[in-house]
Amino acid sequence: MSENYLILKGDICYTPSPEKMVCMEDGYLVCENGICKYVTKELPGKLLDFPISDYSGKLIMPGLIDLHVHAPQYSFRGLGMDMELLEWLNCRTFPEERNYQDETYAKRAYEIFAEDLRRGPNTRACVFGTLHVAGTLILMDELEKSGICAFVGKVNMDRNSPDFLREQSADESLANTKEWLRQVKKKEYHSVKPMLTPRFIPSCTDALMEGLKQIQAEWRLPVQSHLSENQGEISWVKELSPQSAFYGDAYDRFGLFGGDVPTVMAHCVWSEEEEQKRMKERGIYIAHCPQSNENLASGIAPVRAYLEQGMHVGLGSDVAGGAHMSIFRAMADAVQMSKIRWRLVDQSQKPLTVPEVFYLGTKGGGSFFGKVGSFESGYELDAVIIDDSIYRHPQKLSVEERAERLIYLHDGSTVLHKFVAGKQLF
Ligand code: GUN
Ligand code: FE
Repeated sequence: MSENYLILKGDICYTPSPEKMVCMEDGYLVCENGICKYVTKELPGKLLDFPISDYSGKLIMPGLIDLHVHAPQYSFRGLGMDMELLEWLNCRTFPEERNYQDETYAKRAYEIFAEDLRRGPNTRACVFGTLHVAGTLILMDELEKSGICAFVGKVNMDRNSPDFLREQSADESLANTKEWLRQVKKKEYHSVKPMLTPRFIPSCTDALMEGLKQIQAEWRLPVQSHLSENQGEISWVKELSPQSAFYGDAYDRFGLFGGDVPTVMAHCVWSEEEEQKRMKERGIYIAHCPQSNENLASGIAPVRAYLEQGMHVGLGSDVAGGAHMSIFRAMADAVQMSKIRWRLVDQSQKPLTVPEVFYLGTKGGGSFFGKVGSFESGYELDAVIIDDSIYRHPQKLSVEERAERLIYLHDGSTVLHKFVAGKQLF
């Protein structure tokens, strides 16, 4: 019998599908070689002699997945939340991202980001750095140390931002990107991988996008960017790229819109039918970032319509558009925003349910990383053990009720233990 069994005991909760939250009080999650085998109420006799990690009374849930977060923006979350996107980028974001040119600053800031991410409930993330090569490598070093699994991007931007935060030409941006990738290769990271990151269409010239496609094909990189977030931004893209049928087409023209390129597009608040159709065809992952969409008054994405069409959807914090990194918070925000949308925008689209948002924040986003985000057989063990007893209650609640409350009440302080890709971090 394999010595590599890991058995977790506690109150287990996960969502194999958006319709169904499986909850088991006093259950066992049995894993072998870091992979989930099954969840059971009774341990089979052959496993009785194996050590059990006993988390009785605690919640055991899949690690949460943040499909869209800006690491350099962690330092100013909660600031400038009275602005819309383009003003906020110019007044808050670009001046702060400039600081990451200074490696001492980058190290200090990214240590804080990585440590807080490690302590919180998220286990995987798609992360934006800045345009700086050295700073982005520091970010990757810190994430590697933290044990979190992450795709990380050095940002590309060669137009429409101030001199202090712009690569001076497409050639410079491409050369920097290649240099970054060479350095990444030398580092031989284990849990951190590079991801191509054109900031958004307004930041990238056609020459840059053409060059990025070549790099993407040569290095076989996944891609992340922003799509149809804000109406002012969308009008601007129409002016900048009049030949594109819609915003997403401005990426697709360069072969940077899914298909055989695994792609995450953040927001998709205003995607029209044609764009949605292309996103579905190309298997685009939508990072729904409800708190950011609220803070920057971007709008409310039609998430139920995306789910009904069978599109890939996960959740993103979009720090610092969103002020909170925990994807529990994104789950609660997703429900709240969907209710406002239902009430004020489209009564044919029912609000999202708790199992649906739990699914989005675990298996929905997790599938971008492979078999991740569930406790079904064959899934990598990503799990968080949470003590919810601090949310005191005068009567006994079901596991499902406790999970639901946790989504709304969790403040990031109660993760007792964490497993990522089969390995215990703490
Ligand atoms: N679009 C381009 N850059 C950004 C950014 O940093 N945050 C958000 N929310 N949208 C963007
Ligand atoms: Fe963003």
